[in-house]
Amino acid sequence: MRSNNHDAPEEAAASEPLLSRRAAPHTRTSRALILRLGVAIATVCGVMGVIGLAYRDHSERGGHHGGSGPDGPKEGGGGGAGESPLTAASLEKCAWPLLEPHVSLLDVPRIARDEYLSRQATLASALADAGVDAFIAEPSASTEYYANISSSFDLSERPFLMLLEAQTGAFSYLVPQFEAGRIAGLDMVYDETTNAEVAVAWAEEESPYAVLAGARPDWKKVMVDEHTRYMIAAGLQGAGIEVVPMSETVQSLRAVKTAAEIALLRGINTFTLELVRSVQKCLLVGMTQEAVVTASHSLFSRAGVGAGFWSIVLFGDQAAYPHGGKHGKTLAEGEFALIDIGSLLHGYGSDVTRTILPTGAKVSDELMGIWETVFAAQSAGFERMRINETCSDVDAASRVAVKEAGYGSFYTHRLGHGLGLEMHEHPYLNGANSEKLKLGEVVTNEPGIYVTTEQAKTMGKDIGFGVRLEDPILVTDNGGEPMTGRRARSPYDP
Ligand SMILES: *[C@@H]1O[C@H](CO)[C@@H](O)[C@H](O)[C@H]1NC(C)=O
Ligand SMILES: *[C@@H]1O[C@H](CO)[C@@H](O)[C@H](O)[C@H]1NC(C)=O
Repeated sequence: MRSNNHDAPEEAAASEPLLSRRAAPHTRTSRALILRLGVAIATVCGVMGVIGLAYRDHSERGGHHGGSGPDGPKEGGGGGAGESPLTAASLEKCAWPLLEPHVSLLDVPRIARDEYLSRQATLASALADAGVDAFIAEPSASTEYYANISSSFDLSERPFLMLLEAQTGAFSYLVPQFEAGRIAGLDMVYDETTNAEVAVAWAEEESPYAVLAGARPDWKKVMVDEHTRYMIAAGLQGAGIEVVPMSETVQSLRAVKTAAEIALLRGINTFTLELVRSVQKCLLVGMTQEAVVTASHSLFSRAGVGAGFWSIVLFGDQAAYPHGGKHGKTLAEGEFALIDIGSLLHGYGSDVTRTILPTGAKVSDELMGIWETVFAAQSAGFERMRINETCSDVDAASRVAVKEAGYGSFYTHRLGHGLGLEMHEHPYLNGANSEKLKLGEVVTNEPGIYVTTEQAKTMGKDIGFGVRLEDPILVTDNGGEPMTGRRARSPYDP
């Protein structure tokens, strides 16, 4: 799970939790008006907008293993002698030596040129099977996937579209004429030898859609990527090109990961878990949620993967409030710390949640029982994360232990979601999705129990709590494989 906070500076992010927009990394707010054509296939998720103290870094991706030191802001303007052991700087200083030996987990190559070309060929043949003439996408996870056109490319009102023809597999793109030079300079990947006229340019006084229809007179019906804006679909239709939504088959092409993608997901997720483990060893009662956010950001940055960082850090009853998270909340005795955190490695995301305790700290037996119940729920989901299991059945399996413990209605969100170039992508593990899991998909397994203080009082308890455990899991033919390397063992051994 993650929350996307694109706009707030760190201070505000740390103090004012924001609603999850469930958008892709680098996706802009303007994409709220996304044409979600794929949604029609009923694979859309239920609500999983548990949010909280949320922060993400949207600065430029740093050099991998830059080792240039932390770029995250420091608590209280830096250390010096006699610095409190409770600051972000102290936490970072303690955790980095534990984490540094694991930085080599991030030594995973980018997706190679050949793989982009084979993805394009696979898409072209799926399009031919679907009876459409081409695939059209705006800069998005799909263009990143098929042609290395970054999803962080700024969308404007002027269409820049990736075009892939079904019959020939030819790649081309529609581009505003005055932008043609800049866009030609992107690291787009395609086979130049079979692409005589790769750029279809439209001038300011022309309709981009009429220009496209003129340049591709054989295109009668096209499949439009699910993240393409409505204005694009409407423009194509206005120019006489029929538009159909993305099929489940085409969605699955990106949902099923290649070996190179699995290596990237394993790299960033195992590293992220090591980071959480290093933080757990250094976490102290009395630290603030913000100190953990700041130190974690610095730790990712020191490892060269600070850009793309995001986190939700909630202590005690704060973890029960989807919109909660008081600024300055410090970790008290008897409270869990919930850390839901991730970053990006060459575009691929991590999404790991642990509910932890500092070494030597204790919670009530009842809270420890809640942790065990969530772990049992995660185990039940994990057992079912294999080929051909129905998404809704996997979700249901994870609810059994929670219901038996009497907390069924406090497990308020779906079990999980696909993870790849998007932090939330197909397939979605919810009660309404009848899709079957496929070999090579990577999906999160993240059950949770959330009881607010208000609810706790009606149950004869004093204070609320929240517990969640999350690992992204690779679907294999005989079970699931955690992309973190391993699941949690206890609140002291995340
Ligand atoms: C994909 O784009 C990135 C960023 O621009 C670039 O570093 C990388 O070399 C590109 N990949 C290929 C295969 O060209
Ligand atoms: C999964 O289902 C497909 C289609 O029903 C079937 O062909 C295949 O053998 C199944 N695979 C496994 C491992 O059960």
